[in-house]
Amino acid sequence: MATCETRTVPFVLVGAGGVGAALLEAIVGARALHKARYGIRFSALAVCDSSAAVSGADAAGGLSDAEIAALIAHKASGGKLASQSGAVVRPAEQDASVFLESLVDKYSKEAPDTIVVDCSATDATVPALLKAATTANMRAASANKKPFADSSFRNFRELCLAPTSPARVRYESSVGAGLPVIAALARVVSAHDAVTLISGSFSGTLGYAGESFSAVVGKAKELGYTEPDPRDDLGGVDVARKALILARTLGMALELSDVVVEPLYTPELAELSVPDFLAALPTLDAAFAAKVAAAAAEGKVLRYAANVRPPAADGTGGGSLKVGLVAVPASSPLGTLSGSDNLVEIYSQWYAATPLVLRGAGAGAGTTAAGVLSDMVELANTRG
Ligand SMILES: NC(=O)c1ccc[n+]([C@@H]2O[C@H](COP(=O)([O-])OP(=O)(O)OC[C@H]3O[C@@H](n4cnc5c(N)ncnc54)[C@H](OP(=O)(O)O)[C@@H]3O)[C@@H](O)[C@H]2O)c1
Repeated sequence: MATCETRTVPFVLVGAGGVGAALLEAIVGARALHKARYGIRFSALAVCDSSAAVSGADAAGGLSDAEIAALIAHKASGGKLASQSGAVVRPAEQDASVFLESLVDKYSKEAPDTIVVDCSATDATVPALLKAATTANMRAASANKKPFADSSFRNFRELCLAPTSPARVRYESSVGAGLPVIAALARVVSAHDAVTLISGSFSGTLGYAGESFSAVVGKAKELGYTEPDPRDDLGGVDVARKALILARTLGMALELSDVVVEPLYTPELAELSVPDFLAALPTLDAAFAAKVAAAAAEGKVLRYAANVRPPAADGTGGGSLKVGLVAVPASSPLGTLSGSDNLVEIYSQWYAATPLVLRGAGAGAGTTAAGVLSDMVELANTRG
């Protein structure tokens, strides 16, 4: 293979938890590939957690691979970056968003082609991402859905729907972890192929496999597939965020409050403690079993899904976004979904009878980090 000069691609990582650490490991592991195939070397100028930002001993060169390994080990042992030598600690009285924005501002001057990578789970990154999206030569990649869903459509438009956005901002992993859902949708949109429906199941936790509802939830919790409070999954808000990002990608000017969400538990169970909630779950079994039987009588199965219906091309109908239980044909892509996979069906003018389907593992730090790394490589290879 012909050798070419290796270009350094600087980045600032916000969030050093499961996904952030997996991303740093993946970057170090991919050094030889990135050099040989793309002629690039990612350089971590700074890594931040909720307490501080750390940069390498050689500030211009970024963190060395040894410093990255030590940082990952420190975070894995539960440490905060504020205790690392040379850390720039966020003052207690300073808002996290101000701290992050000023950090990005600093790098916009020192290394103008920096990629801001958001692997946090906070919406405090919105100003920093907006800065990256609107500053010449800067770019952003995010696994964090909050800036794209909890923040206003106006911010989303600035981040993702501007003519410069494809070259500047990637948010692939915010929806399907490593599944290239946004990339597929972007291709359909760019071909002016009118999307009529996006139907997706984004959480195996919420898939309903035919066992009693309480048994499915209990098992998922035992296996660590749910949040500590399973209502965080069963309430549907996380699915609503992902579906909203898809709807906004289509240009639908919706806010999170516009999403109609049907939680998988009744209002009486909302205020219980986690143990009491789990103990009360069997009270929902009979109603679920009845819905399963009614669907089965029609050759259908129940799925907890998000349905995004854009307004019709002729302007009729305002479009809608609903998250809840739906009965789908057992033989349809959603109907055959099992385990903890994610699945997204895209129906459009050209994918009318047979939808474009993306299916695969939809969670996990490794696959999510892989999606972010692909975004970073694409950004590094695209001139904005
Ligand atoms: N894990 C998955 O399967 C998956 C799949 C798809 C998408 N995602 C998304 O990926 C993101 C990261 O997930 P994760 O599992 O890695 O979460 P996590 O383990 O909780 O890590 C979150 C990280 O963000 C840091 N953080 C919080 N507030 C911050 C702030 N204001 N400034 C800088 N850093 C801040 C935390 O700092 P401390 O260490 O100080 O607490 C922590 O290091 C989330 O948005 C999640 O929704 C995850």
